[in-house]
Amino acid sequence: MQTKKFKGKVAIITGSSQGIGKATAIALLQHGAKVVINGRNPEKLEKAKNELLTYGLDVLSVCVDISDPKQAEELITKTTTHFERIDIVVNNAGMSMEGNIIDLNPSVFKTVFDINVLGSVNVTIASLPYLLKSHGSIIYISSLAAIHGLPKFSAYSSSKMALRAIAESLKMEQPTIHVGCIYVGFTHNDKAKRTINSDGNLIPLGSRENIKTQTQERVAKAILESIRKRKFITTLSNLGKIQQLANRISPWLVEKIIQRSVKKFDKRNQSSAET
Ligand SMILES: NC(=O)c1ccc[n+]([C@@H]2O[C@H](COP(=O)([O-])OP(=O)(O)OC[C@H]3O[C@@H](n4cnc5c(N)ncnc54)[C@H](OP(=O)(O)O)[C@@H]3O)[C@@H](O)[C@H]2O)c1
Repeated sequence: MQTKKFKGKVAIITGSSQGIGKATAIALLQHGAKVVINGRNPEKLEKAKNELLTYGLDVLSVCVDISDPKQAEELITKTTTHFERIDIVVNNAGMSMEGNIIDLNPSVFKTVFDINVLGSVNVTIASLPYLLKSHGSIIYISSLAAIHGLPKFSAYSSSKMALRAIAESLKMEQPTIHVGCIYVGFTHNDKAKRTINSDGNLIPLGSRENIKTQTQERVAKAILESIRKRKFITTLSNLGKIQQLANRISPWLVEKIIQRSVKKFDKRNQSSAET
């Protein structure tokens, strides 16, 4: 059922040519919003736009790299030139990585922080004057990997933890807008999804057949719910909620559970690669 809350609202979703971002753009369109989609690859973005146009006509695509402050500004200028206002910003564009810290090329941290942290900051700074006018919402897409640092995901975990701090600061600085931070758990991935290996190269993300994942539509629904209810923190999945509580009570216990899960996961992946 459509809620009136989104009718005619202008929403920017960064990194929305695939995955969770695209699913969120579709959900917003279905609820009557005007959406701005974004990504760096023009062909992928065009393909996503054509798919979105089957759900609604108010779609603008802006092909920019949000990790560059000038291009992030361009995203905002093109949006306001076309739609004249901004009501919702979903800072979704993100990049994952894998590798133990000892093996990492230092460029891995830079690339991940440039996209996940600085990209979100660039879009935040450029869009704030418009969000203040509309008393709108700004959302940061974090991860369960931000509750406790994960082995092999140091740059990713720390970048997603930084988003929480940015959201907390902004919430107190600008009480007239809604700031939300969403902790997303393992989600179904598009085949095109890539991650960065320890050398700093993009590689396809391994299959997630061995892990229970949630759908991208489920995450999109939670994002819309967070905006509708103007919630600050949203944690997806019961596992995430338990992990957050346990981390407050006993980070030691959480560390043991993570180590056990990682071992189990590596073992399962090894045996499925061997078969
Ligand atoms: N999937 C999960 O299990 C999961 C779990 C927790 C949190 N999350 C978070 O949810 C968000 C979306 O994840 P996803 O799995 O849907 O990712 P994805 O499939 O890799 O999609 C990422 C999107 O961001 C765009 N993008 C990447 N860097 C960009 C940049 N610098 N400027 C503009 N666009 C950029 C990509 O397009 P181009 O490459 O063409 O730019 C793509 O459209 C991320 O922040 C991720 O960390 C995901």
